[in-house]
Amino acid sequence: MGFLRKLWGGRDRSVVLGARDCHCHVIPGVDDGSRSTDESLAILRLLVGDGVRRVIATPHIYPGRFDNEPEDLRPRFDDLLRERDAAGIEVELELGAEHWLDDSLEARVREGRVLAFGPERYLLFETTTGPHVPPQLLQTVHAMVQAGYTPLCAHVERYAYLRDEEGQEVLEDLRAAGARFQVNRTVGKANVPGRGERGRFIAALLERGWLDEVGSDLHRPTPQGRPHSQTTRSPASISA
Ligand SMILES: [Fe+2]
Repeated sequence: MGFLRKLWGGRDRSVVLGARDCHCHVIPGVDDGSRSTDESLAILRLLVGDGVRRVIATPHIYPGRFDNEPEDLRPRFDDLLRERDAAGIEVELELGAEHWLDDSLEARVREGRVLAFGPERYLLFETTTGPHVPPQLLQTVHAMVQAGYTPLCAHVERYAYLRDEEGQEVLEDLRAAGARFQVNRTVGKANVPGRGERGRFIAALLERGWLDEVGSDLHRPTPQGRPHSQTTRSPASISA
């Protein structure tokens, strides 16, 4: 549990990346993440500088917005491997995806048109962030488990429907179903455990031992890592 001690007991009590970054939009030109090979290499160098040794590339699979399919993403990932080697950056890369949870995800899971990663067979997914529980949430999570995956809820601190009193029950249901939780790291004043609504949520997760993974969710080679157009919007409206 050295990982959690580092998270919770650090001098600034921030959420920090471990050796593996589980959430990163580092493949160029496939979503709202990196726009070029140069940006992708810069993202990798930033992460290596933060102590990361393995980066999971998690492009969006988001029907109607980023219509990526695993067979299209694999060659783009292979290109990135070659560019990493040519640049001499010492970091391991693995392909995953950030799957949008909608009516179609359950069928996608059953058909195996997903990208899981790690020995855990993590299947990273995101949902709407508003106050209402997505109607497909638990059914889709159950389908993931039945198909042999470990559901990994992306930036779990972001969903308003998990942060209220009723949300605690949903969180417990997700946990009981086999889901695991990924939190985005602390950046500036964002995601500081115990501070603000999200920070209090993160602190409660930590206390329960339910903060399983940390991701950078980088889209750009900057510490904040967001596309410029998204930095001017309110945090609640930012889609990752
Ligand atoms: Fe993301």
